[in-house]
Amino acid sequence: MIEYKHVYKSYKGSTINVIQDLNFKIADGELLVLVGESGCGKTTTMQMLNRLIEPTKGTIEINGEDISKIDPITLRKEIGYVIQNIGLFPHWTIAENIGTLLTLKKIPQDEITEKVKEYMDLVNLDFDEFAYRYPNQLSGGQQQRVGVARALINEPELILMDEPFSALDPITKEQLQDELLRLHEELNKTIIFVTHDIDEAIKLGDRIAVMQHGKIAQLDSAEEILKNPANEFVEKFVGTNRLWKTPEMLTAVDVMNENFPVIRADRSSAQAIESMKEHKTLILCVVEKIKGDHDKLLGLIGSNRLAGVKNNSIKIRDIMKKDFTAFPPTMSLAEIMSIRESKELMFSPVIDENEYLIGVITNTSILNVLSQIMPGKEDY
Ligand SMILES: Nc1ncnc2c1ncn2[C@@H]1O[C@H](COP(=O)(O)OP(=O)(O)OP(=O)(O)O)[C@@H](O)[C@H]1O
Ligand SMILES: [Mg+2]
Repeated sequence: MIEYKHVYKSYKGSTINVIQDLNFKIADGELLVLVGESGCGKTTTMQMLNRLIEPTKGTIEINGEDISKIDPITLRKEIGYVIQNIGLFPHWTIAENIGTLLTLKKIPQDEITEKVKEYMDLVNLDFDEFAYRYPNQLSGGQQQRVGVARALINEPELILMDEPFSALDPITKEQLQDELLRLHEELNKTIIFVTHDIDEAIKLGDRIAVMQHGKIAQLDSAEEILKNPANEFVEKFVGTNRLWKTPEMLTAVDVMNENFPVIRADRSSAQAIESMKEHKTLILCVVEKIKGDHDKLLGLIGSNRLAGVKNNSIKIRDIMKKDFTAFPPTMSLAEIMSIRESKELMFSPVIDENEYLIGVITNTSILNVLSQIMPGKEDY
């Protein structure tokens, strides 16, 4: 685990803290993305971890050990580092560039070649084609792959990546992002990834730290940041219309109506009709009241089932519809839409794991949410 404890950074002759009270943890195996505008302190935050920059105040710990007590060279050997202009040695072949750290360790050459081949495979670079070329004979994306292979070959548990893909064209960038996600899954390393591109952050991050003026404005999952931005800055930074662009993030709870009329199963049909009139609805959820103010959903009653019931001793429980489709709160809107369409549902209760009723989805409740997050006219 990595822990920043009240870390500050300021430079001589300046009263400005370029980093102010960073206080957060990164779990083993996590892919954390630092995102923010130029100059907000992303690179500084990252470089304090491999001691390219020393904090003015505070400590950073790796597995409980204060890194200021670790020799910087030893520390850097344990941490992979990939940057934008990866700084390949121009007069060394690709194989030599990738194997450089192993050469320093005095590992026999044939073992190094074997390893280089293995790591070139891992980043999808064909050994026979590329190993003996020079960096300027590779495209930007291929060079970036070399940088990743070089960082991985030493098998560090922690990898720092500072805008590694920002100079690449969109297609190459996307390929490398996909590969990074695959590598992360395969190798289970802790990765800290810096970008100024919120789309990249959302795609890659297990969690995202949105930085502003040397502070973390919000550190959360992409979903939380999109749905519940901590402040106006974060909201603006992620873009107010983004939820609309990623409707796959909407779930049942987001589109349900929490204010809906219910009726108890032991009520009569006359009482149900009264309640429908009062609430201007043709359908009610039939519930059993549970201690702690919960409603357990038993069925649905529609006005069609009430028509013609003359006997007032008949209870709602006897005539309600028991085979209804309810959705769990976490189900995605896309799935809900497709089930609603295939089953021709108009009214869908949302129930939690205790079968307690927490909301109702109707066409109106869905449209209400979509209209709120749809882009304004000026965006068309
Ligand atoms: N040696 C220095 N002396 C004074 N200020 C510095 C020094 N190095 C960096 N800074 C300032 O620290 C702040 C944070 O810089 P940092 O490089 O961490 O930003 P960043 O978020 O990585 O930006 P970018 O997206 O442009 O790479 C900036 O305002 C920068 O001007
Ligand atoms: Mg930077």
